[in-house]
Amino acid sequence: GKVGVLFGGRSAEREVSIMSGTGVLNALRSRGIDAHPFDPAERSLAELAAEKFDRVFIALHGRYGEDGSLQGALEQLGIPYTGSGVMASSIAMDKIFSKKIWLYHGLTTPAYAVLDAKTDLQKVTEQLGLPLIVKPPHEGSTIGITKVKAAAEIDTAYALAAKFDEEVLAEEFIQGRELTVAVLGRGADAYALPLIEIVAPDGNYDYQNKYFTDDTKYLCPAPIDADLTKEIQAMCVEAYRAVGCEGWARIDVLVRARDNKPFLIEINTSPGMTGHSLVPMAARAAGMSYEDVCVEILKTARL
Ligand code: DAL
Ligand code: MG
Repeated sequence: GKVGVLFGGRSAEREVSIMSGTGVLNALRSRGIDAHPFDPAERSLAELAAEKFDRVFIALHGRYGEDGSLQGALEQLGIPYTGSGVMASSIAMDKIFSKKIWLYHGLTTPAYAVLDAKTDLQKVTEQLGLPLIVKPPHEGSTIGITKVKAAAEIDTAYALAAKFDEEVLAEEFIQGRELTVAVLGRGADAYALPLIEIVAPDGNYDYQNKYFTDDTKYLCPAPIDADLTKEIQAMCVEAYRAVGCEGWARIDVLVRARDNKPFLIEINTSPGMTGHSLVPMAARAAGMSYEDVCVEILKTARL
């Protein structure tokens, strides 16, 4: 049947989504699937309904694509879609809410504070220590994030993040190794792919180093001993299930240098599928090509 690949959208990650969606579209077509692009930033839901897609692959990132709102519209239209449902998408889009769910389940995530216009920011630097991380809870691709190294910098960091979100997340900084873990499947069948370790220039895995430079090194499978690898994979599957994710997701993790303790940072329910992206890399380590992963994800499309 006819497949829609949804990409573009109107979030701050539009540019990334166009790279992801173009890759997915070409991959599906190369496997003989009748795939068509659809950009919900340019076309209406009525036009989406009129396309009569049998199912859609969501390659949108961020607000109005990854956050449950589009998933709700697809439910209303009766069009099966890839990835998580309405609730899990909404929870995962909110880094504060995700942490609350994980803490409830006894999973480890960095200590945090929620900042708003009335917060005493200096007090937060004392509570969480320095450096600390300030980020808008509903953004992706490191947009709006600052590593605050000195107390005086927190005001600027807050102001930047507050451009994107009313409430801002401040997190304890975890000094250690940066990993990401793809999880596929649903419910009791969910499983993790091989771990990827990210080694960015100066430890700075920002927007530029994510998508546009070749200076970031990726180690896959990550050079981590078998026991810790299993522990991290199990933790990520639990984190995925706790949020209620389905189909696929990618979880970002930090492993603290001093004691090898893993911390959950966030879960992405519509992870990047660009040429630099990490779900395809993890899949390759598990013997699946980029095209294979796209086809496998498409197969999970449901209402
Ligand atoms: N938010 C970007 C697309 C990712 O998580 O891959
Ligand atoms: Mg993200």
